[in-house]
Amino acid sequence: MTTGTSDILTVELGERAYPIVIGAGVLEELRTLLDTAHNKGTVGIVTDAQVGPLYADRVKRLVVDTGRSVSVHVMPGGEKHKRLERIEEICGSFLADGLDRTSIIIALGGGVVGDIAGFAAACFMRGIPFIQIPTTIVAQVDSSVGGKTGVNHPLSKNSIGAFHQPDAVLIDMALLQTLPDRELRAGLAEVIKHGVIADADLFAYMENESARILAKDSEALKRPILDSCRIKAGVVAADEKEHGLRANLNYGHTFGHAIEAVTKYETYLHGEAIAIGMHAAALLAQELGMVDAGFVARQRACIAAYGLPTTWPDLPVEETLAAMRKDKKVRSGTMKFILAEAMGRVVQRTDVPEDIVRGALDAVRRD
Ligand SMILES: NC(=O)c1ccc[n+]([C@@H]2O[C@H](COP(=O)([O-])OP(=O)(O)OC[C@H]3O[C@@H](n4cnc5c(N)ncnc54)[C@H](O)[C@@H]3O)[C@@H](O)[C@H]2O)c1
Ligand SMILES: [Zn+2]
Repeated sequence: MTTGTSDILTVELGERAYPIVIGAGVLEELRTLLDTAHNKGTVGIVTDAQVGPLYADRVKRLVVDTGRSVSVHVMPGGEKHKRLERIEEICGSFLADGLDRTSIIIALGGGVVGDIAGFAAACFMRGIPFIQIPTTIVAQVDSSVGGKTGVNHPLSKNSIGAFHQPDAVLIDMALLQTLPDRELRAGLAEVIKHGVIADADLFAYMENESARILAKDSEALKRPILDSCRIKAGVVAADEKEHGLRANLNYGHTFGHAIEAVTKYETYLHGEAIAIGMHAAALLAQELGMVDAGFVARQRACIAAYGLPTTWPDLPVEETLAAMRKDKKVRSGTMKFILAEAMGRVVQRTDVPEDIVRGALDAVRRD
């Protein structure tokens, strides 16, 4: 369905179904989303110190236009602040400003703000509605859709959280104009991933349109964001709590998470580690005879076109393998890999011999 400049997708979750509104310059549609919302109380906006000064006033005015009171909570930005303390602070400032069970929380920011604000919404008064207004590529194509919310514990990332689906996701591509270039490129790794796992046409589009996409041309960005949300919404509707299919979204992540862990989350942005991880996964699939060298080269060229890494000459093979074994998604000692069979199609494998995994890691150093 298209309304004016926005497209609307639906995440089909029965009574908890919700819309994803997508377009350039569609922020004002927040008023309609609030007007149709069941909860009519005070709105709490959570944002961070980078995004707040850019966009919080506009969002605040749109809320006030609907006749509601509003409270804005600005938290420090960045992954290291994705801690349980933030939840207490957010709940404290919203309680002080009179939010109650009739309230709505708005997450205005990247994935860090979205995960924290969503978890705050899951906890506050045992759960109130929230609306995602994602402002990074990662958040627009991945984290704002699907209902995974939470914070990190010093011992393990994303280990404290809840499934809490948003009531709506409002994606305004115009907000990306201020996004730093490195964040843009890293986020696009997840779009390339969506192409590889589910949509060969999207992958071809990413191959052909890198110049316009990197120039943040709103028209060129629309398709990757729309298609990514469609793919993610479809997977989430089929497997909300990750019992099976949803794991396909982890393509490149078994390797990528380990690379992030051994570099202590300091060297690579998540998408950069996933880019290397996708290359490792392609090499692994090639070694297993699932894809040919042409597939590996094609995926690699597309990743490189976005200025993302595919190799890491210093990769410590044994340490990375150890980190992969420790990943919380490893069940009963077997590592799960999402591997391509063809462009746009992946399968899950838990039977890959460790020596072949070691070989793929070694190839990432040399390749
Ligand atoms: N819940 C999920 O399903 C899911 C999925 C993927 C990732 N995540 C989580 O998302 C987080 C990463 O999200 P991210 O990559 O968006 O990082 P982020 O939220 O840290 O944002 C990156 C940086 O960009 C700044 N920023 C955001 N939007 C901006 C804009 N429009 N203009 C200028 N600056 C802007 C932020 O202040 C921050 O400094 C991780 O914590 C990860 O675990 C969650
Ligand atoms: Zn990811």
